[in-house]
Amino acid sequence: MSTPRNIPADPKKYLVTGGAGYVGSVVAQHLLEAGHTVTVLDDLSTGFREGVPAGAAFIEGRIQDAARHLDPSYDGVLHFAAFSQVGESVVNPEKYWVNNVGGTTALLAAMREHGVRTLVFSSTAATYGEPVSSPITEADPTAPTSPYGASKLAVDHMISGEATAHGLAAVSLRYFNVAGAYGRCGERHDPESHLIPLVLQVALGKRESINVYGDDYPTPDGTCVRDYIHVADLAEAHLLALTAAAPGEHLICNLGNGNGFSVREVIETVRKVTGHPVPETAAPRRGGDPAVLVASAATATERLGWQPSRADLAGIIADAWQFARREDTTTP
Ligand SMILES: NC(=O)c1ccc[n+]([C@@H]2O[C@H](COP(=O)([O-])OP(=O)(O)OC[C@H]3O[C@@H](n4cnc5c(N)ncnc54)[C@H](O)[C@@H]3O)[C@@H](O)[C@H]2O)c1
Repeated sequence: MSTPRNIPADPKKYLVTGGAGYVGSVVAQHLLEAGHTVTVLDDLSTGFREGVPAGAAFIEGRIQDAARHLDPSYDGVLHFAAFSQVGESVVNPEKYWVNNVGGTTALLAAMREHGVRTLVFSSTAATYGEPVSSPITEADPTAPTSPYGASKLAVDHMISGEATAHGLAAVSLRYFNVAGAYGRCGERHDPESHLIPLVLQVALGKRESINVYGDDYPTPDGTCVRDYIHVADLAEAHLLALTAAAPGEHLICNLGNGNGFSVREVIETVRKVTGHPVPETAAPRRGGDPAVLVASAATATERLGWQPSRADLAGIIADAWQFARREDTTTP
């Protein structure tokens, strides 16, 4: 008998922490489409119950209590649960150490207790801080400029120790700027700090204008350049990562398109895609904003066999726009 399309020969069972949030919900949806069994563990601190994809079991709970929710029937954990607002982490760093580092300590202990030995972790470009060269490779120095980035780097170090000492097979994926939407799942952080959803709020008439922080950077149009990766491309990398590391190995991979787009290019593309004028307001540079942040994804290509297939900025923005418009009619 042949295996139905999309159903892997060897379906597995995964725990997705933070699967009610933006990235976790898209990855959970991809796992289900690939025929796996998914349980989402999320405390809904920044996520949404309706974001959990149909077909996934849902536990409303904290990663700090993962030992109660995990059991040896799980084949692995995909770990998205974290706080991730850079600005908030500067004014309230303890919140980030307690949740991101403390929570992951408990999760790793639970995995050890139940013999669950595969982990994929959401790390971030913020672990690098100010880049020393471009594109950024995994061999570049890590010098985070915020407690958020520092907390994620600390978790990367914890995972390395766990792999060496206790045989965990682990992959940390260092995302650059995640954007776009997939099906019912899209970006709705509160407060929103990411450029594309903010510009779309202007197009929707929810904001008067978009602030452009600095137009005198050493870039072609003077505005900051960032690497935008479609959330569905990112999700595919997670599925590949589940089998990429050997027991005892901690693999770290950057995930980006290797292509930078400036703030001005994003705003101009939003105007074209939405047909709305998007007024800009010139604002001074923000401290700690590097001129250019672009990933080298060579390791992801080599070790995961991953290639982005949705790198076109207009396509990424069109998907995000479709989601933002749908949200606008469904939110009261
Ligand atoms: N979105 C990006 O551009 C980006 C870039 C780099 C890294 N990341 C990382 O990717 C992950 C997902 O980001 P996102 O944008 O989807 O954020 P998000 O806020 O939408 O999702 C995080 C989810 O984790 C849950 N959560 C937080 N603490 C928890 C806890 N202690 N126990 C259980 N659930 C908890 C929240 O309720 C939320 O649903 C985060 O770890 C973030 O640091 C995101």
